[in-house]
Amino acid sequence: MSRRATISGTGSALPARRVTNDELAQTVDTSDEWIVERTGIRARYIAGEGETTGTLAAEAARKALDAAGIAATDVGLIIVATATPDQTFPATATRVQASLGIDDCIAFDVAAVCSGFLYALSVADSMIRAGGIDIAVVIGSETFSRILDWEDRATCVLFGDGAGAVVLKAEEGERGILSTALHADGRHNQLLYVDGGPSTTGTVGKVRMRGSEVFRHAVVNLAAVLGEALDKAGLTPADVDWVVPHQANRRILDATARKLGLSPDRMIVTVDQHANTSAASVPLALDVAVRDGRIQRGDLIVFEAMGGGFTWGAAVARY
Ligand code: UT7
Repeated sequence: MSRRATISGTGSALPARRVTNDELAQTVDTSDEWIVERTGIRARYIAGEGETTGTLAAEAARKALDAAGIAATDVGLIIVATATPDQTFPATATRVQASLGIDDCIAFDVAAVCSGFLYALSVADSMIRAGGIDIAVVIGSETFSRILDWEDRATCVLFGDGAGAVVLKAEEGERGILSTALHADGRHNQLLYVDGGPSTTGTVGKVRMRGSEVFRHAVVNLAAVLGEALDKAGLTPADVDWVVPHQANRRILDATARKLGLSPDRMIVTVDQHANTSAASVPLALDVAVRDGRIQRGDLIVFEAMGGGFTWGAAVARY
């Protein structure tokens, strides 16, 4: 028997305000037809006053702990994956920790943009398997609406805000995270980035993307890293019950499924309702599919994501 990190609870949080494509088209030169056809997105949630990456993360974490039946005070590790922290420092994870009423645990943020949840999951998995941590909360949370250029129709229609969380618990057995695979290639920095930061411009900056080039890399990298993670676990695409992918574009999901020979109805798709919530998108989609009963205990699930950096990764888990 091996010590593994099992997913014992999931949770998510969305801002109160839902914005449809038609609503966006009133202020941006775009249309519902273009957005649906090119991306599959129909709506997104946008944070309002008082809603931040930290508040959404804490709400998602609280729901995940409730679902797991675990007290916040038993948590030994909190990782928040985000590219939109509440402040440059302290880490948003420490705000979540305080909000959950935990006096002492390890808490830090991970910055790998859309792949952030996969990176954070992998770090938590390693810390659990190494023996030092028994219970971890891994959260992806973003308020991308605050770093969008609302005059750039090529990016502002694509993103939304939200958070998703998982509670990981050290357990002996067959269930849990079976493998992870992570990559980065900084040569592609300029294809997807934010044009500011504390150490360069001294400002927060806005999202810039060369969409069609990112698209091409995404399909190739995602199919490859999924194959790699399955290989590491000694499994094949035929063993997969559910793919919980990063929700950037419906066409990327379909193309990745085709490349791996996976049926599109094995893909959990939430991009239509949430748009691209960056690091939040995988745990948010996972929570949706767990709560609506599609993902059942014992199912084999794979996660994948790719984003700015480039960074990309995948994980295989027996739920
Ligand atoms: O999460 C990180 C990973 N991110 C991604 O994976 C995003 C990957 N990229 C994509 O999803 C797609 O490339 C986009 C959805 C961003 C764009 O789709 P596309 O089919 O690659 O379109 P395009 O960028 O080649 O633009 C096609 C046309 C252009 O017009 P012209 O030059 O052909 O006249 C754009 O100006 O569509 C125009 N366009 C728009 N039209 C209406 C771009 N944005 C819009 C818009 N509404 N919002």
